Amino acid sequence: MTSPVRPVRTLFDEDAIARRNGELAREILAAAPRDLLVVAVLKGSFMFAADLLRALHRVGLAPQVEFVHLSSYRTGTVSTGQVEILRDVQSEVRGRDVLLVDDILESGRTVVFAKDLLMARGANRVLTAVLLEKPGKRAVSIDAEFVGFTCPDVFVVGYGMDAAHAYRQLPFVGVVDFGNGEPDLFPGA
Ligand code: IMP
Ligand code: MG
Repeated sequence: MTSPVRPVRTLFDEDAIARRNGELAREILAAAPRDLLVVAVLKGSFMFAADLLRALHRVGLAPQVEFVHLSSYRTGTVSTGQVEILRDVQSEVRGRDVLLVDDILESGRTVVFAKDLLMARGANRVLTAVLLEKPGKRAVSIDAEFVGFTCPDVFVVGYGMDAAHAYRQLPFVGVVDFGNGEPDLFPGA
């Protein structure tokens, strides 16, 4: 049985995301990456990575592209802290500047895991770009060099991110309306 698809309230729309991707690309260019390898963390970052890569091309960068599929175990929408490699990168990372791309930085465990893995394989440096960052949720100490947007403490979907495998196709980031009361996303705003 397929569950009914609930309406989604937009948090970050297509235009805002496209504009921010252009800005992020210029920030990344300013970091003067050498022999750049972009490593996108599947599945959640696929759409962000695809748009960010095109933005990197537009600012004159010519990165190679790799994918790592990581699974961070969750109970419902809460991270349990274990990370597993479902698909590894195939390119040589030794001596290269790596741009790790993920959808969202929450506990930080996924990014720390991926960053440690790439550094252990001899990357020259690993910079991190995340579309979203949820402040105050970190279980491990990590900051991303490039952050698209600060995200309120709600479970978001779309633009690659899912809830129970649904909503990844949405071209914007939003919050699922489960019909049990609207969360106050920006209290005091
Ligand atoms: P972390 O390891 O706790 O930082 O979790 C990061 C991963 O959890 C992300 O790569 C997402 O796949 C997933 N995640 C965390 N928060 C959300 C959310 O609000 N919506 C969808 N996925 C999320
Ligand atoms: Mg993820």
